[in-house]
Amino acid sequence: MTHRIAVIGTGYVGLTTGAYLAHLGHTVVCADVVVDKVARLNRGDVPILEAGLDELVQEGLETERLSFVVGAAKAAEDAEFVFLCVQTPQGEDGSADLSYIREAAAEIGPVLAAETIVINKSTVPVGSTRVVEQALERDDVFVVSNPEFLREGSAVHDCLNPDRIVIGADDQASAMRVAALFESLKAPLVITDPSSAETIKYASNAFLATKVSFVNALANVCEAVGADVREVVLGMGYDKRIGFEFLKPGPGWGGSCFPKDTKAMVHIAEDHGYDFDLLRGVISVNEEQYERMADKVERMVEGSISGLTVGAWGLTFKARTDDLRDSPAIEVLRRLRARGASVVRAYDPGVADASSPLLKGVTVVADPYAACEGADVLVVLTEWDEFRWLDFAKVAGLMHHPRIVDTRNLLEPAAVRRRGFAYDGLGRA
Ligand code: UDX
Repeated sequence: MTHRIAVIGTGYVGLTTGAYLAHLGHTVVCADVVVDKVARLNRGDVPILEAGLDELVQEGLETERLSFVVGAAKAAEDAEFVFLCVQTPQGEDGSADLSYIREAAAEIGPVLAAETIVINKSTVPVGSTRVVEQALERDDVFVVSNPEFLREGSAVHDCLNPDRIVIGADDQASAMRVAALFESLKAPLVITDPSSAETIKYASNAFLATKVSFVNALANVCEAVGADVREVVLGMGYDKRIGFEFLKPGPGWGGSCFPKDTKAMVHIAEDHGYDFDLLRGVISVNEEQYERMADKVERMVEGSISGLTVGAWGLTFKARTDDLRDSPAIEVLRRLRARGASVVRAYDPGVADASSPLLKGVTVVADPYAACEGADVLVVLTEWDEFRWLDFAKVAGLMHHPRIVDTRNLLEPAAVRRRGFAYDGLGRA
């Protein structure tokens, strides 16, 4: 059974959601406020790097199941389902800013057909379903929570192969109508109340961030006691209760979700009288990790980075994305600049446009070797696989000093040291 669906917001979540719902056979109209962006999307010009998304959008346009319009009301006027995929940025105090969600709901309220179901896809604080209900000012439509669990870099895969589909609704009939949209996916369904559905999303991200902060702290302990964190994680991971996922140490976690969602989760708990100090600890381990990476680089150059040249491989918050938001790579480079590094040259295969204000003070170069020219130290910050297969003899020849700090344990220490490099990884001898 296919349905008429509107998707409000064509950012990372909205565009992926609209494209995959069209792929499932539904007729989907996606709305954005930016006229030029809508025109580009109708030409199949996808503005984000996401494996498989171009093909999905192209397929949707060719089958005419997917189209893009300007304005939420226009998309929602004859939809049976409206997905809200607008941003919920982090407010100054760490709470999620719901103004965009309220605006979208207020805009579509007057045009919705009776019995329409409005679906909160964006990551919203617990209780936001009520906020949307109030903003719609209708008692003949329904609001349901359906959080997304897409990982950047594998969003299309995650949409079409979800570990679970979570639906939070006050009434079973609405929940079943929403569940039917995804019936071809054959994924486990968790149907619950709205607050539980909203909490599942925050709790999942907070737990994953906890795993990463744990392994980063463990890497620091391994360095102190002379253990190898990769061996330790291997020995831990065979325990099915622990597993191997999200236990790779790095420069810290970043991106558009973990930083925002962990802070929001702490804020939501505090708002309701609970001090989530465990999660506050996870956040502070992460912030300390940026400093520790900068300390590592200074130890590699015998004490101070002041006046020296830093080469960097990686700017995005993780490989196979083009996303610089809250990137640990940028956090570390910012700290090295603040400690006096005179030149920072960086290369990242996902970064074509160097105009982002997030890159202030960093010279973005077009290839990994250019990032090494005259460098006193090379820092590996994002785990792009291509960095592993470069000509390290050439890299050594380009550098002022052949020294590498590998914050992703991407490289093989013995191989790199054989080429004359001083090498320091994370949690490894
Ligand atoms: C995350 C959640 O995984 C996803 O389910 C949710 O919908 C959105 O937020 P994403 O932000 O795309 O997805 O990135 P993710 O793959 O979770 O990585 C988050 C951060 O943790 C990145 O900076 C990544 O480099 C870091 N990370 C992840 C590690 O440092 N080590 C790991 O083992 C895994």
